[in-house]
Amino acid sequence: MRGVLQRMRDLLRLFVTGHAQRVWHAVRERLYSNGGSLGLRRDLAVPFPAPAAKLPIQVRPLAPEDDLSFLDVDQPGLAADQVFARLGQQRILQSGLATCYVAIGPEGKPCYMQWLIPSSENDRVRTFFGNLYPQLGPDEVLLEGAYTPEAHRGQGIMASAMAQIAQQAAHSGARWAITFVDEGNTPSLKGCERAGFAPYLRRVEMYRAFYRVIAFVQLLTSAFPGDR
Ligand SMILES: CC(C)(COP(=O)(O)OP(=O)(O)OC[C@H]1O[C@@H](n2cnc3c(N)ncnc32)[C@H](O)[C@@H]1OP(=O)(O)O)[C@@H](O)C(=O)NCCC(=O)NCCS
Repeated sequence: MRGVLQRMRDLLRLFVTGHAQRVWHAVRERLYSNGGSLGLRRDLAVPFPAPAAKLPIQVRPLAPEDDLSFLDVDQPGLAADQVFARLGQQRILQSGLATCYVAIGPEGKPCYMQWLIPSSENDRVRTFFGNLYPQLGPDEVLLEGAYTPEAHRGQGIMASAMAQIAQQAAHSGARWAITFVDEGNTPSLKGCERAGFAPYLRRVEMYRAFYRVIAFVQLLTSAFPGDR
């Protein structure tokens, strides 16, 4: 319920900042739409060297003193999609989901953020995202909320940081890192692939009169019973 109220508040915010068209787009989508995302995963037992970004980065959990001004929605000249994306990141931050990681750039400021979510957060994931994700198994982690501030995009930061964040999960004993990306989000799909992730699932997303139906379709099957 809290999540719904936050979304309504954010739509109102979009509306009053002059992005009525984007609000209508979001409402129309929830009235009637058919969409899809790819579920991608990486086997953490298989070594995967993180690709280097075009600038040196250091990955670590978000600290209270980190500068997240790149999520400011009052910055002049922002396009509706930019405001929409920033509000989405702020909502995940406010959800209290653990753990938000950041990549720190040469200026000492975050230039990437993404959540690494263990199965102990299953209930919170369900509360915040509803039925959008499958229940995580004890050996699975979910990567969600990838975001590179506009000024840092196109420098290979996502692939490098995401690969390193996934590796953190391996240290805590997880076998599979999974993530979901809208089928139309080419930059993110490229970043995931370069971070060692491969498609294994398709998520079908349908809205009918604000009611969301989600179905998961397996993409890969194996002849070996022990494989997943
Ligand atoms: C998806 C996202 C995290 C990628 O981050 P990134 O650090 O720029 O990733 P990369 O540098 O590896 O670039 C990946 C692709 O982004 C695209 N790209 C490059 N420069 C870009 C720019 N200035 N602006 C937007 N996209 C750009 C290119 O298609 C690039 O592929 P290429 O290297 O083959 O040209 C980033 O675009 C973003 O934050 N988008 C908004 C939020 C979002 O969609 N998150 C993913 C949710 S699943």
